[in-house]
Amino acid sequence: MATTTMEVETVAGMPRHARLERWVDEIAEMCKPKRIHWCDGSKEEYDTLVRLLVLIGTAMPLNPEKRPNSYLVRSDPADVARVEDQTFICSRSKEGAGPTNNWEDPEKMKTTLRGLFNGCMAGRTMYVIPYSLGPIGSHIAKIGVEITDSPYVAASMHIMSRVGVHVLDVLGGEGEFVRGLHSIGSPLAPNQPNKPWNCDAEHKYISHFPEDREIWSYGSGYGGNALLAKKCHALRIASVQARDEGWMAEHMLILKMISPQGQAKYMTGAFPSACGKTNLSMLIPTIPGWKVETIGDDIAWMKFGPDGRLYAINPEYGFFGVAPGTSMKSNANAMLSVTKNAIFTNCAMTWDGDVWWEGMTEERPPKVVDWLRRTWNPQSGRPAAHPNARFTAAASQCPSIAPEWEDPKGVPIDAIMFGGRRAGIVPLVTEAFNWQHGTFLGATVSSETTAAITGKVGQLRRDPMAMLAFCGYNMGDYFSHWLKIGKRPGAKLPKIFYINWFRQDQSGKFLWPGFGENSRVLKWIFERCDGKVHAKETPIGRIPEVADLDTSGLNMQTAHVEQLLSVDVDGWLAELPRIREHFAHFGAQLPEGLSSEAKALEERLLAAKP
Ligand code: GTP
Ligand code: SPV
Ligand code: MN
Repeated sequence: MATTTMEVETVAGMPRHARLERWVDEIAEMCKPKRIHWCDGSKEEYDTLVRLLVLIGTAMPLNPEKRPNSYLVRSDPADVARVEDQTFICSRSKEGAGPTNNWEDPEKMKTTLRGLFNGCMAGRTMYVIPYSLGPIGSHIAKIGVEITDSPYVAASMHIMSRVGVHVLDVLGGEGEFVRGLHSIGSPLAPNQPNKPWNCDAEHKYISHFPEDREIWSYGSGYGGNALLAKKCHALRIASVQARDEGWMAEHMLILKMISPQGQAKYMTGAFPSACGKTNLSMLIPTIPGWKVETIGDDIAWMKFGPDGRLYAINPEYGFFGVAPGTSMKSNANAMLSVTKNAIFTNCAMTWDGDVWWEGMTEERPPKVVDWLRRTWNPQSGRPAAHPNARFTAAASQCPSIAPEWEDPKGVPIDAIMFGGRRAGIVPLVTEAFNWQHGTFLGATVSSETTAAITGKVGQLRRDPMAMLAFCGYNMGDYFSHWLKIGKRPGAKLPKIFYINWFRQDQSGKFLWPGFGENSRVLKWIFERCDGKVHAKETPIGRIPEVADLDTSGLNMQTAHVEQLLSVDVDGWLAELPRIREHFAHFGAQLPEGLSSEAKALEERLLAAKP
């Protein structure tokens, strides 16, 4: 174990892995923590971590009669979301990161980082967290180790991924693992008081070294910046592994839909951050007899099975979901998932010691303490919870979790959905003509940005496959990888659909009620997979006609539904130059299949022009 003189807490019976131990020693030597703690993933360990968070003022226990074993954490206002400007893909060549990622030379970045990491854990405990992404022992699963000096991160990792000694058993003495190093960048000098939330807001670096399968994250303690198993490993590093090994790592929910006859289909959906993945994965259908069960709410790893189908696993173990807008009405399954054993971050606190956020209840409470610890009332004129406030809870607590959600084989995918927030043109649902056309639809996804990203709300941007911020390599090559998946001999591919719950009328009101009503669209998709329901060919893809969509009991006027399903030929012709401009960024890396799809779309639109 560590050769340094610091105190080290190991796990009894822990298997020896020379490379892992050497790496931990090197990091300890650089970061100079007071103590090293190897996490065993036990309940006692979690309880100790949250107890510590309470004692140092990071976490506040909630009223146990309202929400047993649950805590509220409030971060520094300078550390509330992912920082895309400070996220780097440090591949050996700039070309490797491509035009959509920030790139820095790996050696140069490491030099900068070594300077920052030097002594950065002074006075703090360094947690070593072995985790498995995916059911332990699944051939699709992968192992990582996160080193962090944040007990909040260590506690959250307990909920978000499979942590513990059993992971080291799988790793054995030689196994491969992704190295994730994280620090909040707040060394504690002797006699220096600790703060409830520590970070180095001025020097945040979320850096990835894809060839070395390594992550170095400095300065932030929040969400995807700090829980390295999530976006950094399960998407950015994993997307590179997936390219190299012929599988897919995607920013997708996974759901199971069951018909009244008991037939099941599995669907995935890629929508940008805060665009409805968690909600859709836990949806309660409003159409009688149908049922939806949850497999995952944010990330899907898909591999071909021997039958040529794509099988998906959820690499995660819990949810880190957007709190605002979540209610018993919009997402009862999420609300029921967080009734106990949950961590809430940047929510408001009620007078009786529970959490609250905008949209949780129909009536706003008369007074709360807001996420900045100020008194708040409905007249305050500001949100009580931060718009990117989040809940963290184990997936196993979700009432709609599918019994097979941990099946090591994964679940065979029938349909893939893409979508984003678009106020105009994009219809409620469109079916791709084939895989290449579907890849084109995914590659051109555009969406208005949300509070999940620091400093950007409501800007329209292209977010291909919702992976703009999460693809660990050149996005042009990522498009080629998608097309290659579609050409695999013997592949039985899912159908691809494009959805938009966010089309608005002239007054800015959503045309579609969304949430549970989205089951009407899922039903059409389900039946399209069996060729059982009609679709109309249009220049942009196959779209249901009003009669094809089950709107019974919805009380929506036909003209209204027609508007949701309408194809605005002139609007799409005006969109084409913007698609071409987007594609132009990829230069020679843009696969021919996508430019030919743009051309074909133009021809179909021109032919349809009255
Ligand atoms: P990340 O965790 O950031 O990846 O987000 P996500 O894609 O899981 O988004 P989530 O389901 O948490 O939804 C984000 C916001 O969109 C919430 O405020 C929801 O209330 C809102 N939302 C989700 N589904 C719908 C819908 O069908 N219609 C409308 N109008 N809003 C929705
Ligand atoms: C997202 O932004 O897509 C999230 C939240 O799921 S975070 O884990 O912070 O990336
Ligand atoms: Mn996400």
